[in-house]
Amino acid sequence: MKFFADTADTKEIAELASYGLIDGVTTNPSLIAKAGKPFAEVIAEICALTPGAVSAEVVATDFDGMMKEGKKLAKIAPNVAVKLPLTLDGLKACKALTGEGIQVNVTLCFSANQALLAAKAGATFISPFIGRLDDIHIDGMDLIAEIRQIYDNYLFDTEILAASIRSPNHVKLAALAGADVMTAPAAVIRSLVNHPLTDKGLETFLADAKKAGIKV
Ligand code: G3P
Repeated sequence: MKFFADTADTKEIAELASYGLIDGVTTNPSLIAKAGKPFAEVIAEICALTPGAVSAEVVATDFDGMMKEGKKLAKIAPNVAVKLPLTLDGLKACKALTGEGIQVNVTLCFSANQALLAAKAGATFISPFIGRLDDIHIDGMDLIAEIRQIYDNYLFDTEILAASIRSPNHVKLAALAGADVMTAPAAVIRSLVNHPLTDKGLETFLADAKKAGIKV
């Protein structure tokens, strides 16, 4: 499973990259706004931190506008994946941009039928939003499982990018359901390492080593 960092904070991205835990990055307009820097500048900085796909989202909602913005974003770096909303114009732009060899992440997916449309439009990634479905009492993981089955039935190569991941349990369940990628905030990715028995075991080993005077 690939791990993408869902953040536009370059410090956080650099830290995760130093652990070797990052295969790409996703941003959205809300995350870019938080970064407090010009859009193109922050995307260029992120692209230099990882060779993996870096999603940058358009703000136009019509086909011509999305094409114009998408091409502009794709010129920033070869690893930019243009993020397009799951609308009819977004799907049309997806087909056109992928036809030009540009990676596309179709976002704001909340149903299996939407994911089917994105795959037919040639999307590189489809982003089902797990947490936001959970927020309205719909199990987001059921959606991942449905999309996995549909994509496998028809051998679509669109990658399932589980988004709106908010907890370690979301990561585990998305992996079990067969998501190709998950994107999560840095804090969630860091927290995956935590286990009280690891801490306790390490404490005991270090105490025993000290007592026995072990030096490596
Ligand atoms: O980037 C899209 C997604 O990951 C947003 O997550 O927590 O705002 O629903 P969230």
